[in-house]
Parts: sequence; C-alpha cells; structure tokens
Amino acid sequence: MNCFMLSPAFRFACLAAVLTVAAPQLSGADSTEPMNWTAQQDHQNMKEQLGITRLRPGPSGNANATTNAANYDPAKANPFPDLPEPLLTKGGQKVTTAEQWWKVRRPEIVEDFEREVFGRVPKNVPKVTWTVLTQATDRVVGELPVIAKQLVGQVDNSSCPSIKVDIQMNLVTPANARGPMPVLMMFGFGSGLPRRPGEPAPTNRFGAFGGFGGGTNAGPSSTEMLIAAGWGYATIVPNSIQADNGAGLTKGIIGLVNQGQPRQPDDWGSLRAWAWGAARGLDYLETDSTVDAKKVGIEGVSRYGKAALVTLAFEPRFAIALVGSSGEGGAKLHRRNFGEAVENLTGSGEYHWMAGNFLKYGTAESKFGSKNAGDLPVDAHQLIALCAPRPIFISYGIPARGDANWLDQQGSYMATVAAGPVFRLLGARDIGEKENYRAAKMPPVNTDMLDGELAWRQHDGGHEDRSNMKHFIAWADRLLKYAPPAAVPAK
Ligand code: GCU
Repeated sequence: MNCFMLSPAFRFACLAAVLTVAAPQLSGADSTEPMNWTAQQDHQNMKEQLGITRLRPGPSGNANATTNAANYDPAKANPFPDLPEPLLTKGGQKVTTAEQWWKVRRPEIVEDFEREVFGRVPKNVPKVTWTVLTQATDRVVGELPVIAKQLVGQVDNSSCPSIKVDIQMNLVTPANARGPMPVLMMFGFGSGLPRRPGEPAPTNRFGAFGGFGGGTNAGPSSTEMLIAAGWGYATIVPNSIQADNGAGLTKGIIGLVNQGQPRQPDDWGSLRAWAWGAARGLDYLETDSTVDAKKVGIEGVSRYGKAALVTLAFEPRFAIALVGSSGEGGAKLHRRNFGEAVENLTGSGEYHWMAGNFLKYGTAESKFGSKNAGDLPVDAHQLIALCAPRPIFISYGIPARGDANWLDQQGSYMATVAAGPVFRLLGARDIGEKENYRAAKMPPVNTDMLDGELAWRQHDGGHEDRSNMKHFIAWADRLLKYAPPAAVPAK
C-alpha cells in the first residue's frame, strides 16, 4: 500500500497504521496488525486506487422517497434491452458445441466475472483444518432423531497471526440413515445445535432472514423438511469466513491473505469469500462417510442467495443450488432499471460484496470517464449459465408478503430465460419458457417451472425460500436420483 495514493486524512490513518505495525515488531511479537479502517475509508481508498472522483448515489428503496427513488415503472425498466451473448466468443465466433463452451467461452465469462464483478480467489489462500468439536446423538429436528456435529475449520494464519479465521459449520444428518445421503449446505447465522427431545421448538421457522414482512410461522421449517426427506443439512456461518461490511475487508479470509492491507481492485469481495468458505466446508463433507459428497447442494436467501449462486457458479463440486430472493448481484440483471441498482452495490454499504473493480460501473466522474450497468462485460444470465448443466432452482416470494419489488423478480426471470441456451447446449433442460428473454413475462405465482435442470418458482410467501423447500426437495431428488429411506420418528 502506497500512502501517497491517499488523501491527507487517509495518509494520516495509514501512517497511524504503520506506527501500530512498528510497535509489536520492536517487541518481537506478531509482525503485522490489520488496517483498522471504517467502511467509508476503505471505500474511499478503492475509489482512489481506481481514479474515481464521483460515484452516482444508489436509488432509495423507500417508494416514497422524494429524490432518487428506485424505478418501479416497467416501461422504464429495460434501458439496455440487449444482454451480452452467452454463446458468442469475444472473437465473434458462435458457440455451437459443448467443447467450445468449456474450452473457450466459459473461461472468458469466468475471467470477466472474476476481474470486474466478484474478484479473484488468490492463489495462496492458506489451508483449512477441520475439527469436530461436538458430536451430539441426543437431538431431534422436528420429531426425527439426528446426529449433529459442530465443526470448526481453522485457517492456517502463520503468515499473519493477528488475523484469526475459524469457519463455523454444523452438520446435521438423520440418525436412521442407511447410507450416504445428499446434504444441503445453507448460508445462515450461527444457530447452535438442534434441540433435545422435549425442549421447545425454535420460534423462527424461516431460516436466515426470518421471513420478515409476512408469511405464517405454521408448518415445518426447511431443516425439518430436509431431515424428514432423508437429507442432511449443514449450516455455515458467512461472518466466520468474512465480515459482511467494508471495514472487515482487511480482516477475515480476505484480510488474512493480504496481511491486513487493503484489497487490489480485482481481489475478491465477501460473496466470493463466502463461496470459498462453502467450498472448504465441502472439503470436510467429502471426508464424512454419512455424506454423499457428489450430492451436496448450496442454499441461501437474499445476500446469501447471491452467495449461493456465486458458489455454484465457481465451485464445480457443488451438485445443485437453491437460490432464494437473490436480487441485484444475484439472479437479477444488472442492466435492468427496477428496484435495486448497480449504484447500490457500489456504495459504501454493499461494495464489500463485490470486487473493487465493480465500483467503476457506478461511476459518474473518474480518470476513465463514466460507466454504468450497460458497460458491464457480463450480466446475471451468464452467472446462472456458469452453473450449467448442474441443476439450479431460482426462487422468489411475492412483494405483498415482504419479498419486495426491490429484488426485481421479473428481471431475475429474464436472466433465467436468457441462461437457457447454455443449459440446452450442454444437454440440460431450461425452464420451458418459449419467449425470447426480452419478451418473457414471469408466470403467475406458484407456477412450477421445475421440469429441467434450470428451474424457476415464485412462491406466495415472503423474503424466504422455505415456501419453496418441498418443491426444491422433490425436484432435487429427481435430478440427483435420490430415493430416501422411510423416516423413523423419535421414541
Ligand atoms: C438489502 C440489499 C439486497 C440484499 C438484502 C439482504 O435489501 O439491498 O441486495 O439482498 O439487503 O441481504 O437482506
């Protein structure tokens, strides 16, 4: 980090950081302390690295905002109606064979997403060592007995001992399993182990985002449905991998690799770091004999829905995904002007999800001029296409129950349709929409578009994917060819 790239205030902060680094060195302790910037300072630093002097402010999610309210007028929603072609190489060649996709076109798309959108996973990420902290056999999920393991994945931090990264994950499997089973890994908050029989059932039955804004608490939770269906589940805690804010970018796994210093513009952001952590969780699952490691899925809602999509796109060992209400940065097209925008992701509250380079696309003034969503080399349909031919279920709820228009369900539907040609090229099935993506209209709520590897369903609940879980399980069982054993209730 060169302090002269910074404004005077930040030069001071940088100098202060250097001084705090120097002190422990003199005493012979840890060699470095991580930078202790606020998100605003780190965001400013990235703008300066990129030569950006002004970003456009993101639109307000408040429909009554008097200035800069998000657009909800469908007539103005498609300022860039043509998406980058998934099946056309940069050299202008049409991609007509699977081989061309794997050898030429897919790597081009991966490169664009890594450089400009989500960032690269560094080459030298240290090793993770998994330990089973607890194994409990006296637990139930619903009324079914389970085996619950509490795990920690310790990242080797010998290169920067002041940054500790301990990945938290639980693995819960039905106790009556007769053989290895599929497992759904779920991004969520730390939730502890399941209860003992007789203890009160958890009150939040929705998962990570609590289904805010509507929905009924009645009925089984996602984890109850999974266990009853003979699946296992793993819960992985994103914040134990990488903080969900810009101030944390010099810590967590991103900070550890950078020895506490700020990111370069193509370094990974939190979404990619969370996806990396999920892949390390999968490394553990591959060693656990209760798990069929070829049938491990990834799930998340909202920001974790984005993370689930990024995980399936970049980690080929994940077999399947349930992507819940992922919105901007997830399944929603960046090129759509409806609800959340690129400019929200480039502001200091959300930019940490992305690579620094992504800031360019929200730029009003800079040494490279201005750029917007239409300048992105790739868009969400290509992120979905990177998952092909592996099965992916794109899930949303409805605005009336709290899955706000902010998420742009229609723009996500268009992206799903536009990913279809890649699934078909690879011998997989799309959602069955006959229209070109430009004219494709979301079907009515609760319509199953679940015949193919590429699947879509908008349920009638809120900001959650529990309402689609039973549809996901039936669809996944069919595509993964899994026939669960009959469940045995607890005595
Ligand atoms: C905000 C943000 C979304 C995000 C959501 C969440 O609404 O704008 O992009 O998905 O928070 O994760 O809850």
